[in-house]
Amino acid sequence: MTARIKIIDLLKSEQAQASVLLKGWIRTLRESKEFSFIELNDGSCLSNIQIIVDSTIDHYKEITKLTTGAAISVQGELVESPGKGQKWEVRATSIDILGVAPDDFPLQKKRHTDEYLRTIAHLRPRSNKYGAIFRIRSKLSFAIHKFFQERDFQWIHTPIITGSDCEGAGEMFNVTTLDLNDIPKKQGAVDYEQDFFGKQASLTVSGQLSVETFCLSLGNVYTFGPTFRAENSNTSRHMSEFWMIEPEMAFADLKDDMALGQEFVQYLIKYTLDECAEDLALFAQFVDKNLMATLENILDNDFIRLSYTDAVDLLQKSGQKFEFPIAWGSDLQSEHERFLTEKHFKQPVIVHDYPKDIKAFYMRMNDDEKTVAAMDILVPAIGEIIGGSQREERYDVLQQRIKAMDFDEADYWWYLDTRKYGTAPHAGFGLGFERLLMLVTGVSNIRDVIPFPRTPKHLEF
Ligand code: 4AD
Ligand code: MG
Repeated sequence: MTARIKIIDLLKSEQAQASVLLKGWIRTLRESKEFSFIELNDGSCLSNIQIIVDSTIDHYKEITKLTTGAAISVQGELVESPGKGQKWEVRATSIDILGVAPDDFPLQKKRHTDEYLRTIAHLRPRSNKYGAIFRIRSKLSFAIHKFFQERDFQWIHTPIITGSDCEGAGEMFNVTTLDLNDIPKKQGAVDYEQDFFGKQASLTVSGQLSVETFCLSLGNVYTFGPTFRAENSNTSRHMSEFWMIEPEMAFADLKDDMALGQEFVQYLIKYTLDECAEDLALFAQFVDKNLMATLENILDNDFIRLSYTDAVDLLQKSGQKFEFPIAWGSDLQSEHERFLTEKHFKQPVIVHDYPKDIKAFYMRMNDDEKTVAAMDILVPAIGEIIGGSQREERYDVLQQRIKAMDFDEADYWWYLDTRKYGTAPHAGFGLGFERLLMLVTGVSNIRDVIPFPRTPKHLEF
């Protein structure tokens, strides 16, 4: 029995082959008197291969009745194609029908809207665009590990179920086995002692606190996994479940953090250009005409470094009318971020040293006692793609911050311990993987770069 050859390998063939076996899904079938032509795709690459089916083939009639979406197995001969735009085609010697696709197959050969395709998320990866997205997603996942492994960062598997709120924003999903119809109470409140873990448990919003403990043991580390936020925001850049990459560097400060962030984003863009050229070309042609220029611009230039205070100043003096006027102390809105990256600098901007009151408790307090050593990397069209900081390594200052935020110090005992025993400066960040995919593909809705998006009131599939 011959082994199946994937279309991606077949197309790289140096010479004709007398016998090949391939399997895939029909994209189109054109029937003529003596021959039929099938465009076959097997998901290994964007390109289809053309199959020529001679009318003398066994059960020809049945084959010509096949439609878009059907799965077949083709035995045949690889020959040079006389048609233009393709080097090879396959002359079928036999075809087995693996699975037909009746007329109501929802992915007919025409342009469908992204909104419609979201309603058939189980079938959309069979379209050119979504096939391309998910191949790039896979390649980039690998590139992320490659980047860190080449630099001797250790990959740490931080837990998904957690007992602490890393970001302190309280936007967490509960994990419980309590009977929701009969919740045990103690003095009016839920009695979590009776719950599975004997305390309140949630899905993690970030692996940072856990990964920090490993940073202060193994040196440079990273975590890459799913994160969950019960934030009720329905934007094109937020999801309830997304993937985040969080590196943490030992003996490092905010400058090192910004440098790593820039190097990381540029590396991943370069990797996509080098390794995903065919798929990327689809986005440059059909999704965002400026995609290549945008990516090259990001590759070729250092990111702008701008303090929050200078950013506010610049925005106030810009003469631009904003829906939300900016004042020192308030968070940058998406319109402000877009003004900086798209209108003013026309490239990525790293805003650093934010007011302490709009940032998380673990960020290192600056000498002015008003700002913390935080940094966000903002990119055109998307806004924040990376959020990070130098961490507060001073025990007393950290303890103060936890108190000031009204957190229960007991919940953070182990985190504080790392500052008690051999504390050291360290810094890290989180990169939202889907936002990175939006950047490299030009796709404008985050729901279209993850296999099965989870957003408020949406949990199909
Ligand atoms: O800025 P965030 O909240 O930072 C943290 O979670 C830190 N603990 C990271 C660290 O320092 N180790 O999130 C980091 C990134 C954001 O910049 C954004 O790209 C992405 O995660 N992100 C989201 N992506 C999709 N949907 C959401 N709801 C997201 N929230 C954050
Ligand atoms: Mg952030």
